[in-house]
Amino acid sequence: MDILKNLEEIKKLAHQDIEAIKTTEEFEKVRVKYLGRKSELSLALRSIKDLPIEERREVGFKAQKLKRALEELFLRKLSELNVKGQMSMVSLDITKPGKKIELGHLHPLTKISQEIKNIFISLNFSVVDGPQVEIERYNFDALNIPANHSARDMWDTFWLQSSQKVSSSQLSAASSRLLLRTHTSPVQIRYMESHQPPFQIIAPGTVYRYEATDATHSFQFQQLEGLMVGKNISFANFKYVISVFLEKFFKRKIEFILRPNYYPFVEPGVDVYIKWKNRWLEVAGAGMVHPKVFEAAHYNPREWQGFAFGFGLDRLAMIKYNIPDVRLFYSGDLRFIKQF
Ligand code: PHE
Repeated sequence: MDILKNLEEIKKLAHQDIEAIKTTEEFEKVRVKYLGRKSELSLALRSIKDLPIEERREVGFKAQKLKRALEELFLRKLSELNVKGQMSMVSLDITKPGKKIELGHLHPLTKISQEIKNIFISLNFSVVDGPQVEIERYNFDALNIPANHSARDMWDTFWLQSSQKVSSSQLSAASSRLLLRTHTSPVQIRYMESHQPPFQIIAPGTVYRYEATDATHSFQFQQLEGLMVGKNISFANFKYVISVFLEKFFKRKIEFILRPNYYPFVEPGVDVYIKWKNRWLEVAGAGMVHPKVFEAAHYNPREWQGFAFGFGLDRLAMIKYNIPDVRLFYSGDLRFIKQF
């Protein structure tokens, strides 16, 4: 029975040796010593067939069991060594350049919008928000654009087919029809309804027009509404505010011109043009708030006056970054986006 004793002996020594392993080279030596083809255990396994039949079963069983136990121990040791190995690599090679983690970044239009907000905040404006799904009353009626007024043709509108009209007893069925806002001007009304002047606000956001796209038009774009109301707000105040804004935004003196234009919610109304690539590009509509608009918001037009403007953010971005085509902003083309 000394072969059984021998197995016990192997087991004890193997445990000690495996325990003592420190490196992968040592590991390989010890593994060969105990599990290699010439190891004592392998020899024992091979000699089983020469044993008397009564002993074969017990010896065979124990030898196989030992073999599996040792394999298991070696495996565990190996993973221990690997973990340590990785840690020591990290702590050793501090000169190795780090792996760069790929971070996303903000879309150029988001960046521009944040920049613009900060400029207006520095001018003591507040930033407010409004919904993109708007009711007809805020998008049109309250802005002095009643139903059937030909001025509605200025805004080709995406009407929403909706079963749920906004339920409000004050609203006639017609003026509660839903649409995608065609401009940010409805935020003017929403804000005035719930605040008292004097104040100055901006409202940046997405607007929608039902029209064909080309290099300077998109069916979806960004506007920046502005509204300043007080007792003595004049057109001169407007000119000053936008000249400061344009200068801060483009970081240089900006030449702009104002050309009269008709918007039902302002009087007088103008468009703001700035020079780009030797031509004048329209970047905003603006004007003095129309008395009818104040009335719609329940302000006394004899008491208050103010100016409003609506900048096209995409246009400003095109000029600032020399981008020839607005559609690039919405194309999702990474070659474009990654340049910002
Ligand atoms: N809302 C107008 C538009 O989208 C722009 C505008 C805003 C004009 C404020 C005058 C005053 O075209």
